[in-house]
Amino acid sequence: MGFKDLREYIEFLRRNKNILEISDEVSTELEIAYLTREATYSKMPALLFTNVKNFPEWKVITNIFNSLNVFYNIFGSNKLEEISGKFLDEFLGQLPTTFFEKIRSFAEMSKLGKVFPKSKKPVFELHEEYSLDKFPALRTWPKDAGRYFTFSITITKDPDTEVHNLSVYRIQLVNQKEAIVHWQAFKRGSITANKYLKKGITKVPVAIINGVDPITTFVAASPVPPGLDKYLFAGILRQEGVEVTRLDNGILVPANAESVIEGYVDLNDVRLEGPFGDHLGYYTPADFYPTLKVERIYVRDQPIFHATSVGKPPLEDAWIGRAVERLFLPFLKMIVPELVDMNLPEYGLFTGIGIFSIRKTYPGQGKRAMMALWGVGQLSLLKMIIVVDEDVNVHDINQILYAISSTVDPKRDVLIVDNVLTDSLDHTTPHPPLGSKIGIDATRKFREEVGREWPEEVSDDPEVVKRMEKILKKIKDQYPLSK
Ligand SMILES: Cc1cc2nc3c(=O)[nH]c(=O)nc-3n(C[C@H](O)[C@H](O)[C@H](O)COP(=O)(O)O)c2cc1C
Repeated sequence: MGFKDLREYIEFLRRNKNILEISDEVSTELEIAYLTREATYSKMPALLFTNVKNFPEWKVITNIFNSLNVFYNIFGSNKLEEISGKFLDEFLGQLPTTFFEKIRSFAEMSKLGKVFPKSKKPVFELHEEYSLDKFPALRTWPKDAGRYFTFSITITKDPDTEVHNLSVYRIQLVNQKEAIVHWQAFKRGSITANKYLKKGITKVPVAIINGVDPITTFVAASPVPPGLDKYLFAGILRQEGVEVTRLDNGILVPANAESVIEGYVDLNDVRLEGPFGDHLGYYTPADFYPTLKVERIYVRDQPIFHATSVGKPPLEDAWIGRAVERLFLPFLKMIVPELVDMNLPEYGLFTGIGIFSIRKTYPGQGKRAMMALWGVGQLSLLKMIIVVDEDVNVHDINQILYAISSTVDPKRDVLIVDNVLTDSLDHTTPHPPLGSKIGIDATRKFREEVGREWPEEVSDDPEVVKRMEKILKKIKDQYPLSK
């Protein structure tokens, strides 16, 4: 846990034989992206490209989040929900306040001292001669609009609270000093930009960093509750504060980053971004996003560039989604207390389908839970929510199919909500970012919900089960496949 930087993590991968070094010459034009996707699909380890055509000074690393196992290694546990659960128990206790009040009071908690960001001299240096075209940004699919930063982190700072936000947004390079930042309307980057706009400020100070420790990168791709500083959250997960340094424009950046671009996003200069081959496996059409204007570029000696490619699942974003699902389950339970477990399946595209089990104690609770879930952060993007009872294993597709088939009357138990916020990348929506949602209440129903008693489920006579125990074992021993 708590890798200092990307290089320390690469050393860890080397020690565990979890990285392949590729010395064949490969291009940033489609080739690295293709090999990266094939590596993820084939469950291969991280790839370190050491001979990148036209970028001799750079190494490019991809596929670092190639499975859920990677997160078990990074966090030193295969029970990710226990990590966040322990934190919530330890720091929040049972205070009779709301979740968000608790989150706001984090800063006052002296216990958190060690996980706060710490000031450190940067390892990167200012390069006056540098420009965006010198970075080994990737063209990932043949019809992408250009070369992109795909795993760079955009850092903004709330103009009132100083809370820092780190987010993975793709960035399309336009020329030596300009690029387009694809922050979707409801993401923290865009929300912060609107705060500046309200104050009459149209130049939002930002830093675009690349190549940091894996937990900080993961946090940047995670839906951390609004108001909670992502440096602080990264420090909590790393169990050690992130080492940072302040740029001239006031933004704090990780002091050990491989590269840092300092500048601002000009909200008065919106340009067509895309098309881009996206995580649904389709090209998202071009749309308008604001432009990054570069002021200064800092690069580390012998730099390493972190990149990825998205496409049809399951690629790296799917495994990040899985880790998010596990780590954020305890947070979600604070908001939806009846929640027992959840499954955001890789092939459900993370924003497509979510399956949730609840402890149902009153009529109508299935639909109530689905409405609550649609109201929480990025779960608001979910196109389909299936709610099942607590005894259904949400990770077993057959149990889910059985729950749907044995509890659902479509007219009564299916909810369709129209004209609500959906994933703006979803090409199926009629008027992005608005579309419809479907909720399926696959819980057993109460009398009030069906107008009569719910029928009794079959179950064995316990006396017979006891009497037959030995005979059944004998039969099963003769037929090993039944074990
Ligand atoms: C590889 C990758 C690329 C992503 N690209 C984008 C993007 O271009 N735009 C976007 O809004 N979110 C993108 N995301 C998702 C965000 O990183 C994610 O929603 C994260 O929680 C940031 O949201 P926040 O700024 O609200 O915290 C991407 C995620 C990954 C893993």
